[in-house]
Amino acid sequence: MSDQQSNELIILRPPTVADGADLWRLAEGTGVLDTNTPYAYLLWARDFAGTSVIAEVEGEPAGFITGYRKPTDPSTLFVWQVAVDSRFRGRGLAKKMLFDLVERTADDVSRLETTVTIDNEASLALFGALARAHGTEMTRTSLFTEDLFPHQEETGEEHAAEDLYTVEPLHAPAT
Ligand SMILES: CC(C)(COP(=O)(O)OP(=O)(O)OC[C@H]1O[C@@H](n2cnc3c(N)ncnc32)[C@H](O)[C@@H]1OP(=O)(O)O)[C@@H](O)C(=O)NCCC(=O)NCCS
Repeated sequence: MSDQQSNELIILRPPTVADGADLWRLAEGTGVLDTNTPYAYLLWARDFAGTSVIAEVEGEPAGFITGYRKPTDPSTLFVWQVAVDSRFRGRGLAKKMLFDLVERTADDVSRLETTVTIDNEASLALFGALARAHGTEMTRTSLFTEDLFPHQEETGEEHAAEDLYTVEPLHAPAT
């Protein structure tokens, strides 16, 4: 990280509806995430702000995480999308957002789930880092296999299988 980067002001906070369009832009900008509709990000910012985070670097939207607590098991935080603008990658921003979110929800959440495609090394490294920080393992099981997604002829591109990764137990920070 350069000296200039280490001096930059980074703000991590729950998103508001005013951030909805930026969440969409950030997702779209990755070129690899399934971009949801702009409406979906507005809805997320309104109803799931407590389990989501947006990062601003020097006032610029730089990344986000969307997540929710599973209705059937509210102690599980499901992390849906993680995006960091390419200009701000490789300097720990995704890790900062993830660790911040886990800490913010620690009173209610002791387990994290996410899905990752097999080729996404950065994502695996990110959740692996969380498991290490909590002194636990990350486990993988099959979840959304390729055949569950619409066919390539319908969407224009094949969707890789999304494996389920679980990190538990997450420890509440020492007080
Ligand atoms: C995945 C993504 C969010 C990582 O953002 P980032 O801010 O660059 O990540 P960080 O700098 O916090 O790095 C987190 C970990 O991933 C590792 N990492 C980062 N980029 C990597 C890459 N391209 N290849 C391998 N590992 C990588 C880091 O070394 C770090 O691991 P460590 O703590 O063991 O050193 C970002 O690359 C991105 O937006 N990608 C496109 C969208 C996507 O794939 N999202 C994830 C699926 S939901």
